[in-house]
Amino acid sequence: MTGFKCLAVPGPTNMPFEVRQAMDVALEDHRAPDFPDFTIPLLNDVKKIFRTETGHAIIFPGSGTGGWESAIANTLNAGDKVLTSSFGQFSWLWVDMCSRFGLDVHNVEVEWGRGVPLGAYREALEKDTNHEIKAVLVCHNETATGVTSSVKAVRELLDDLKHPALLFVDGVSSVGSLEFRMDDWGVDVAVSGSQKGFMLPTGLAIVGVSQKAMEQKKQATLPVCFFDFGDMIKMNAQGYFPYTPPVTLLRGLRASVDMLLDEGLDNVAHRHNRLAEGVRRAVTAWGLNNCAQEAQWHSDTVTAIKMNEGQDANAVIQTAYHDYKVSLGAGLSVLNGKVFRIGHLGWLNETMVLQALGGVELAMRKVGVAFEAGSGVGAAIDFYTETAASNKMAAE
Ligand SMILES: Cc1ncc(COP(=O)(O)O)c(C=O)c1O
Repeated sequence: MTGFKCLAVPGPTNMPFEVRQAMDVALEDHRAPDFPDFTIPLLNDVKKIFRTETGHAIIFPGSGTGGWESAIANTLNAGDKVLTSSFGQFSWLWVDMCSRFGLDVHNVEVEWGRGVPLGAYREALEKDTNHEIKAVLVCHNETATGVTSSVKAVRELLDDLKHPALLFVDGVSSVGSLEFRMDDWGVDVAVSGSQKGFMLPTGLAIVGVSQKAMEQKKQATLPVCFFDFGDMIKMNAQGYFPYTPPVTLLRGLRASVDMLLDEGLDNVAHRHNRLAEGVRRAVTAWGLNNCAQEAQWHSDTVTAIKMNEGQDANAVIQTAYHDYKVSLGAGLSVLNGKVFRIGHLGWLNETMVLQALGGVELAMRKVGVAFEAGSGVGAAIDFYTETAASNKMAAE
């Protein structure tokens, strides 16, 4: 089949040509005398993406999962109590990792489609007068259900109760796309990866670490080696790494960070919000439902679309892929067959979103889902037309 594949999964995302070109370079000496001229400004600029001035930006070879592990292994002791919540595949996997590390996990199970349970968190923290809870985990954007939770609200809760627990945030599908304010929200470890908002291939765990987390690290006894924050910070200060860094990906990261900062992080967030709203209008026009149960949780980076009773989401995904070259995200775990996901993050514009929506319509028509052809695409076009001025303003 001729033509481009349409990559509409929530990561990996589309890679900008600038990023690809930046990585089309000969391999380099990572111990060269001038290597720090490249790495020190890069690490400083990655801090800007996390919006931290006081924290560190740390880049490990790895993926988001490695970032999760780094948060736990650097700051906690076996048996430490952690407050967590699971409301989708990724929030659940991080909780599972906490158990595998021998932590005492106090997990609040939440219906998939809802966000971080602020009430239950308050209750657990209020009861914890001896401050046994050492860390509170938040999945900022649950990619499996398209749910964004308020990190700020969790910070306010901790502050209100004067609770000293560390705040760990999974920002894998939010950092570099949605509003993310590490310092303002008092995030102690913010975890991201290269293949979503950073618009790169998979291969980097990109982590923001606060001074408070580094203080806590002094008392931490879980084994940590490859993901040691201390080793990394020490070597990074001179512009080097404790082991061979993935320099080619770092070259790509330089280009992607430049693109994000040139666009401006507020504009990036605005663009994602506008593109996402077009998708949401399409979902409503098709007569389908957003898996995120309330507007407060609607994610601007991914929409999980719930099919109606008797409709098979996997048939839509398979047909979109095989017949129309459109990759949609599958429903994970209990949502398999029930939802398909459209990723709308990274290097993306209106027409790319419309391509994905058009592909969904073609696939739904082919598998016999009843809807009016063009209704979703039309609703998105109407919205993008109505809001074209706001987009232009944001870009200026
Ligand atoms: C919210 C979230 N957290 C963590 C992960 C795991 O990241 P990785 O697959 O890069 O290890 C993902 C992956 O999609 C994710 O979406």
